[in-house]
Amino acid sequence: MFVVLTDGIIVLRCLTEQDAGAHLAGEDGDQIRWLSGGPGSIERLVPWIHENRCEWATGGPRRNFGIFDALTAELIGNSEAHVHLEGMAEGEVNVSYGVFPGWRGKGIARRAVLLICDWLSSDPRCTKAVIRIAPDNVPSHAVAESAGFARTGMIVAANGEELIRYERRLRQTGR
Ligand SMILES: CC(C)(COP(=O)(O)OP(=O)(O)OC[C@H]1O[C@@H](n2cnc3c(N)ncnc32)[C@H](O)[C@@H]1OP(=O)(O)O)[C@@H](O)C(=O)NCCC(=O)NCCS
Repeated sequence: MFVVLTDGIIVLRCLTEQDAGAHLAGEDGDQIRWLSGGPGSIERLVPWIHENRCEWATGGPRRNFGIFDALTAELIGNSEAHVHLEGMAEGEVNVSYGVFPGWRGKGIARRAVLLICDWLSSDPRCTKAVIRIAPDNVPSHAVAESAGFARTGMIVAANGEELIRYERRLRQTGR
C-alpha cells in the first residue's frame, strides 16, 4: 500500500523514477555528511527508488517518502520511517529527514516529522518515534526539539558511530 500524507503545505509520497533527477539535484554536502554517507549517482539512485517502491508495495519495514511542495509539486527533500531498524526495540520507529538547501529554514523538516508521527500514531504496533543525530549536527537537533522529541541519551549505532537519541511517544489514534 502506498501512502500519501499532506498538511496542505507539503506532500509526502514515495518517489518514482521520474523524480530521480530532482532528487540528485537537491543533494548537497550536508546531506552527504549527515544522511547518505556519500554522493549519489543515477546508477544507484534508480534501483534505490525501485527498492523503496517495493518496500511500500510489500509492507516492508522501510517507508521512504519524497517531500514535495504542495503548491508547485516540486521535490524539496526526503524523509523515512523505519519500523525495524537494527538495534531498535519492538514498537520503536526510526525517523530521518533531509531538506534540499534552498528550502531550509522554512519549517519543512518539522512539518515532515510531524506528519510522519501523526501517521504512525494510527498504527498500534508503533509506540515510539526515535531520531538519532550526530552530536554536532546542530540544525537536526533543532528539528527534533521543535517536533516535540525529548533527548534521552547517547547511543552507539550499528556502524560504531556515537549518536544522540531523541524520542517521542506516539499517541495512539487507532486505524
Ligand atoms: C536538518 C535539516 C533537515 C533541517 O531542515 P529544515 O527544513 O531547515 O528545518 P526546519 O525549518 O523545519 O527547522 C526546524 C527547527 O530547527 C531550527 N533550525 C533549522 N535549521 C537550523 C540551523 N541551521 N541552526 C539552528 N536552528 C535551526 C529552526 O529554527 C526550527 O526551530 P523552531 O521550530 O524552534 O523555529 C536540514 O538542515 C538538512 O537537510 N540537513 C542535512 C541532512 C541532515 O542533517 N539530516 C538529519 C540527519 S539526523
